[in-house]
Amino acid sequence: MTIDWNNLGFEYIKTPYRFLAKWTDGAWNKGELTEDNTLHISESSPALHYGQQCFEGLKAYGRKDGGINLFRVDENSKRMNRSAQRLRMPQVPQEMFIQAVKDVVKANREFVPPYGTGATLYVRPLLIGVGDTIGVHPADEFIFTVFCMPVGPYFKGGLTPTNFIVSDYDRAAPNGTGAAKVGGNYAASLLPGEEAHEKNFSDCIYLDPETHTKIEEVGSANFFGITKDNEFITPKSPSILPSITKYSLLHLAEHTLGLKAIEGDVYLNDLDKFVEAGACGTAAVISPIGGIQTHDDFHVFYSETEVGPVTKALYEELVGIQYGDRPAPEGWIFDVK
Ligand SMILES: Cc1ncc(COP(=O)(O)O)c(C=O)c1O
Repeated sequence: MTIDWNNLGFEYIKTPYRFLAKWTDGAWNKGELTEDNTLHISESSPALHYGQQCFEGLKAYGRKDGGINLFRVDENSKRMNRSAQRLRMPQVPQEMFIQAVKDVVKANREFVPPYGTGATLYVRPLLIGVGDTIGVHPADEFIFTVFCMPVGPYFKGGLTPTNFIVSDYDRAAPNGTGAAKVGGNYAASLLPGEEAHEKNFSDCIYLDPETHTKIEEVGSANFFGITKDNEFITPKSPSILPSITKYSLLHLAEHTLGLKAIEGDVYLNDLDKFVEAGACGTAAVISPIGGIQTHDDFHVFYSETEVGPVTKALYEELVGIQYGDRPAPEGWIFDVK
């Protein structure tokens, strides 16, 4: 297969190898790499009926020296175990998780996009409840699998700003599963996402499900804004996905760029205080937000066509670290040897 590294979208591509482990009788087997990209599971698997499943998303970065970096994969492992705990699934030991990711990346090495193409290898760990269980209770068998594919930018613009629209729908309930990376949250986001795309927006922005007055997060990324007073502000809420990129940016904003980094409320009627805004996540990286459509207003931040200077500086710092071009805070980079 020849791949045009510079023109990849965010689409499924079947790569040769994936890792698969099974949990039966209360324990994981040691798992193995397989070439089969289909799962053979019971029709009554709780993952299919009751959404007993969770997943992760991270990337492998092809370095200038030909090596491969993973970014904060230990945090993905911790978050998957928190999601698993919320949905009554077994923990995947961190060592097994990280080794599986490394093994899959190594086995599919030829699909890691070369440095300088702007593309990455997206890695998808997935944990599902399977077996013959029809009542609404947890499965007693599980599958943990990790597969990967080369991807390009998630939002079409890359570092060119795109526009977003505030949604009337909620993706999660105040004390529900919004903080867990579980399929149900994404099922709930399909219709709002499609409606946003039909109106030519990149994605929708969800408001807090309790009062609908505060920005919660973007469909598949967290939100941040930069104020005129050099503050980096990102919403704090129990119903958003705790983005690893967001926590990394909070750190870099404060320690590298000298901004004041704040997790707090972002009121929809107070957007004027932001001179720049963006969406951040593994897939989104940092995608500048040109404007946000609310019910009665189209609010432009920095510009609809150009990325703002702080967003650009954050992007360069984050991506520089991920590709190994800039020094990383301790423990952020994992070398796939
Ligand atoms: C709903 C949602 N919010 C935020 C994020 C960003 O999280 P992370 O930076 O850990 O990729 C993602 C993507 O993983 C997401 O799906």
